[in-house]
Amino acid sequence: MTTPADTSHPASATPYGTLPPSSTPGTPPARKPVSLPRLREMQAHGEKITMLTAYDATFAAVADAAGVECILVGDSLGMVCQGLTSTVGVTLETMRHHTECVANGLRRSQATAWLIGDLPFGSYHESKEQALRSATVLMQAGAHMVKLEGGGWTAETVRFLVERGIPVCAHLGLTPQTVHALGGYRVQGKGDEAAATMTRHARDLQDAGAAMMVLEMVPAALSATLTQELTHCATIGIGAGNGTAGQVLVLHDMLGMNLGKMPKFVRNFMEGPDNKTASVRGAMEAYVRAVKDGSFPVNATHAW
Ligand code: KIV
Repeated sequence: MTTPADTSHPASATPYGTLPPSSTPGTPPARKPVSLPRLREMQAHGEKITMLTAYDATFAAVADAAGVECILVGDSLGMVCQGLTSTVGVTLETMRHHTECVANGLRRSQATAWLIGDLPFGSYHESKEQALRSATVLMQAGAHMVKLEGGGWTAETVRFLVERGIPVCAHLGLTPQTVHALGGYRVQGKGDEAAATMTRHARDLQDAGAAMMVLEMVPAALSATLTQELTHCATIGIGAGNGTAGQVLVLHDMLGMNLGKMPKFVRNFMEGPDNKTASVRGAMEAYVRAVKDGSFPVNATHAW
């Protein structure tokens, strides 16, 4: 049975139409779909970009309705959904499946968030042609952009994808797919030499056309400097301080559902006076508010 369309809310005729748009002050009642030009505009105006991971339709739809601008189907799903000890075992087929689930969820709600699919370990390392084939799989599953980890060696691949119309998010600092080479989950870019290397890689990736760049576990001062320098590439921090163009957290972490040790850079948004209903939706809205008004992250607490 179909429900008559309620024109007051575009999603109301769908099974997910029960999700009203965000009540966050300043968030328009019906948000326009987030696009690359809109993200560039936000960066240019210093309006913080919010990103959360999601791996299924329902959480993606709730995040979208809560006003989260970017949803990352991260290969962190290997840890939070599959119970792996690292992201190394995640396959392209798994990423395709979850990207499709998230895209379906967005399509059935307000469908405004920018959807980023993570290219897993081994799916872009062989050649730029292999990267294009893998990126095509995620784009056809509904992603608007793909993310890949690594420094200068990925620049040629980034350029190849961007030239072929695939927006790319780079990822520097702690790159979990190379955790074994890095010797553990530790802060990257500490010291003059490491900072200079990361700066060179960041410039190369921006020059290659990366429109976004996740900076993970990077000293706050370095990520703030990179953010100032990268005028055409929006930095998105996780454990990188409050000087980046935007922030990302793993969904389960910010909902306080980390089964291991909670990383220092996480805040549990299920708790605290800003989520009076202690609901998932409330937590996401509190996260959006805190990132936008600059109260999260706090450098002294969540960064290095
Ligand atoms: O896989 C992931 O969730 C990520 C974020 C931590 C940025 O890469």
